[in-house]
Amino acid sequence: MASWNEYLTHVLNAIGDWESRFGAFPSHPSLDVAEERWQEALGHYTARLTDNYPFFHPRYAGQMLKPPHPAAVVGYLAAQLINPNNHALDGGPATGQMEKEVVRDLAAMFHLPGDTLGHLTSGGTVANLEALFIAREIHPNKAVAFSKAAHYTHGRMSGVLRMDHAAIPADLNGRMDLGALEKALKTGTIGTVVATAGTTALGVVDPIADVVDLCKGHGVRVHVDAAYGGFFALHAWSEDSVLGDETRRHFRAIAEADSVVIDPHKHGLQPYGCGCVLFRDPSVGRYYRHESPYTYFTSDELHLGEISLECSRAGAAAGALWFTTRLLPLHAKEGLGPILSACLRAARAWHQRLATSDVLMPYRAPELDIVTYHPRFAEPRASAIDGASQRIFDAAMSDRDDPIFVSVLRVESDTLVPSCPDVQVDQPYARILRSVLMKPEHEQYVDHVHNRLEAVTQQQTPTL
Ligand SMILES: Cc1ncc(COP(=O)(O)O)c(C=O)c1O
Repeated sequence: MASWNEYLTHVLNAIGDWESRFGAFPSHPSLDVAEERWQEALGHYTARLTDNYPFFHPRYAGQMLKPPHPAAVVGYLAAQLINPNNHALDGGPATGQMEKEVVRDLAAMFHLPGDTLGHLTSGGTVANLEALFIAREIHPNKAVAFSKAAHYTHGRMSGVLRMDHAAIPADLNGRMDLGALEKALKTGTIGTVVATAGTTALGVVDPIADVVDLCKGHGVRVHVDAAYGGFFALHAWSEDSVLGDETRRHFRAIAEADSVVIDPHKHGLQPYGCGCVLFRDPSVGRYYRHESPYTYFTSDELHLGEISLECSRAGAAAGALWFTTRLLPLHAKEGLGPILSACLRAARAWHQRLATSDVLMPYRAPELDIVTYHPRFAEPRASAIDGASQRIFDAAMSDRDDPIFVSVLRVESDTLVPSCPDVQVDQPYARILRSVLMKPEHEQYVDHVHNRLEAVTQQQTPTL
């Protein structure tokens, strides 16, 4: 790979060449900034940015965070220099077409029909808001149901949309309880069910295939929130898949969903500002109908603002995703697929080490690439697990020489029992530890993360 500088210089030259076609003009002096001020502010800015956690490093095994792939940075910068607005083809003809192409590719990844309608959004929250908005338009007097383990956005956005909602209990592994869902469907009050492919806390996949079957029987729509786990669908269709059989079955059923959300700014190697919503029935575009006296004049083709609740949207986000997926295509065996397999292998390898550790123990086995664990006590109490988890989190992160960054998850103490049957449930909730292994480099690094956390745990819980 040539150096970053070469790609960035290529981009600057290419856009500069294009700009020069329009003739030179003097830039306005009001835009000038003195060299010393540039230097001073830049020094200040880059220094302030060091007040960050090292999301790029495999020692950061905390939240759903990592920097974009260099392809996305180069792709984003190139379009950002032009700054197209994908609201309308008037604002971004090239990136508008690229957006249609990447949306088609994402729909194809889920095996959704070729005429699936969709667009990029600023993130998973707005993408889910749009899916719920369509759900409400189709079933104005019915509720939306989602599992208690679904992302909080569903409760919040159904509130914004003034939709009734039903929270369906999750089983002990964090998956939607099908018996409870069936009971709710029998009431006839539910119009749409949200299933999650990769929950935020545990990274588990709701039983989507069974949810789809149940919903079909009741004439209820299915929306799949695959904001986090969606790209694992790449592995759902190959015979020698790295996914478990049940996981594959549920990912394949996304093909039958009415709407799907996926976040390229999570596992799609993109910078923040890139979500996507897909609708199986392109005719739902009618619910977005609005008048815009200012736009939609350059082409009779569909302008994405015509089917989006947001007006201005970064064309650069579409350009970056388009460019990234040319270099790292949406395939199981090349491009994104092997990146995701490495994350899965890292999570499983770490789980094995936790299962045999004397000082830490797993909470749940990872279905995707999120690992959950807590300290192991001879006489475990929820309160001891809770306090020690927070101490380990604080100490591991603040170690000057060899820090490890993880995250904390609050669980109902009862849910500790399946993996830790002797636990005394002496308080309703307990904090445990959680690591999202989103970087393929974790595969080579989890042993170090584990060893360090064992050492920190021993320091923090000497009476273990
Ligand atoms: C399953 C799920 N849905 C929705 C969201 C919200 O997405 P965003 O943060 O892109 O708005 C998240 C974020 O973590 C998520 O994990």
